[in-house]
Order: sequence, then C-alpha cells, then structure tokens
Amino acid sequence: MKISSNTQIYGLLGYPLKHTASPAIQNAAFEALGLDALYLVFEVEPNVLEDAVRGFKALALKGFNVTLPYKERVMPLLDRIDRSAQEVGAVNTVKIEEGVLIGYNTDLAGFIAPLKELNLKLCEVKALLVGAGGAAKACLKALINEKCRAITILNRSEQRAVNLAQHYSYPNLKVAKFNEQNLKEALNQADLVINATPVGMYPHVDASIIPKHLLRSDLIIYDLVYNPIYTKLIRDAMEVGATTILGYKMLLEQAAQSFKIWTGLEPPREVMLEVLKLQLGVEQ
Ligand SMILES: NC(=O)c1ccc[n+]([C@@H]2O[C@H](COP(=O)([O-])OP(=O)(O)OC[C@H]3O[C@@H](n4cnc5c(N)ncnc54)[C@H](OP(=O)(O)O)[C@@H]3O)[C@@H](O)[C@H]2O)c1
Repeated sequence: MKISSNTQIYGLLGYPLKHTASPAIQNAAFEALGLDALYLVFEVEPNVLEDAVRGFKALALKGFNVTLPYKERVMPLLDRIDRSAQEVGAVNTVKIEEGVLIGYNTDLAGFIAPLKELNLKLCEVKALLVGAGGAAKACLKALINEKCRAITILNRSEQRAVNLAQHYSYPNLKVAKFNEQNLKEALNQADLVINATPVGMYPHVDASIIPKHLLRSDLIIYDLVYNPIYTKLIRDAMEVGATTILGYKMLLEQAAQSFKIWTGLEPPREVMLEVLKLQLGVEQ
C-alpha cells in the first residue's frame, strides 16, 4: 500500500479495540478500486473522546466508523445526524465533508440486506427477536420499517425488552422474559428467529440460545453472532433443514454501506467478503 501526500484517512473509533476486521476489509476495498486511501484503528479512551473527534476534523479525515462504547456518545459531537442514525438513535459511520461531521447508521441496512436476499414478503413474516441490547435495537427498527406481521422480543432481563419496545406503538409487538416456556410459545408462532445475544460467540462455541429440539425446518434462523461463522445455533438449524442467515453477512453489508457513504462508489463486495472470511478464519 502506497502512502502519498494526498492519501485520504479513514478509521475506526472505539474502546477497547482488540480484534477488528474493519481495517482489513476497508483497506482491501480501497485497494481494489485503486483509491489513495487508508483505514486506521483509533482506540480512544473515554476521557479524550471529544478531543479525538475534534482531532479527526482538524486533521481532515474523510470519515470514520464508530463502535462500542461510543455509538450514542458521539452523536452530540457531530454537526448533522442523518435519518438512518436518527431512527436507531446511534451512529456507526461518520462522513467528514468540508469540515462538517455527518453521522449515519448502517446497522439497519446491514441487518435487513441478507433478509431481502431471501425474497420474502417481510410484511407477512412473524419475527422472534431474542435479545434487547444495542444490536436488537437496530433489528427491531428494521423489522418495524418492513411492517412485519408480528414481532416478539424475548430478553433475559424483561425490563430491558419493555424499555426497548416502549419507543414504538407497533400493533403486533409483544415482549416477554426469556425462559423456556416463553421461548417454546414464541417459537410456535414464529417464521423468523433472530439471535441478538452473544450466546454462542467464541470461546463459548458449544452454547446456543435455542435448544436444537425446538428448531424446525420451516424456520429462518438469523444469528447475529459471526465468530465463529458457523455457530452452534446455525449448525443445529442446518441439521434440521432450516433456512439460515449467518452473522457475517450483516457485518459485511454494514461495512459495504459505510464504504459507499464515504466514497460514493459501489463497494467491491466480493473482495470485502474474501478478506472478511480470511479475518474470521473461514476456509475458502
Ligand atoms: N453481525 C453483525 O454485524 C453484528 C452487529 C452487532 C452485534 N452483533 C453481535 O450481536 C451480539 C449482541 O450484541 P449487542 O451489541 O446487542 O450486545 P449488548 O448490547 O450487550 O446486548 C446483549 C443482549 O444479549 C442478552 N444476553 C447476554 N447474554 C445472555 C445469555 N447468556 N442468555 C440470554 N441472553 C443474554 C442481553 O440480555 P440482558 O439485557 O438480560 O443482559 C442483551 O439483551 C454480539 O454477539 C455481537 O457480536 C453482530
């Protein structure tokens, strides 16, 4: 990779930042399109977040991604918030245009794209969302935007699910505590099941949020966990013949959408996918 006096700088803002695939994916995309651009990691401690964002502007970065724990905290530091970020209440992509910082959110688009690939009528789908944290927030908003026929949220802490749901006056939105009985009942009603909890994530690769005997071939199982790529939930779902969506697809699409916001160019998804798979240690 060549660095010139014109090299445009992008980055990832978060804390702590250990293993992130973003630099490899974005740098590969820049290279594939012959762009003189570089994506770096900025691990910024909470007490200097404001200074860092001012610094990005002063140093004329072109844009940056925002990850935990700053997706909400960064918002008041920006000049404009795009509708995509307003509707989720969080920013994961910032574009810097002539010194103006504009916040976007690509989580929602990233989540919904793999579902749309299945050519479903999402308005006829009954969805079960397990989890009520940051990722579930974007999933819920996306499902509501698509006017899903029914949405049930199950969460370990019921209150958190109640808090999440109360932002929306959606007619067929229910919440309940995550327990075996409620899970069985909700699964009986569901077509689409989304795991928005970290259950099954490395190193707990033999854990699954849904026991295999409750899975059915007519379900669509969407696991947001992407490390490992084939989680226990996904492996079990494949074994019973269910349709599966793997979490890396959302990750890839979020990154592709950020690239598009920054460059205005169509992202080289194939290149980005190959690099992501390598980063996640998937055999080609
Ligand atoms: N594929 C992607 O692009 C993508 C994007 C974002 C996130 N993710 C993944 O999605 C997962 C959730 O991320 P997040 O940011 O939403 O996390 P978060 O804000 O910390 O929320 C975690 C949620 O999982 C629930 N939970 C945690 N451990 C649980 C357990 N053992 N049993 C049942 N429920 C449990 C929590 O319930 P309580 O409220 O009761 O604590 C909470 O609702 C992570 O694995 C993350 O890597 C993937």
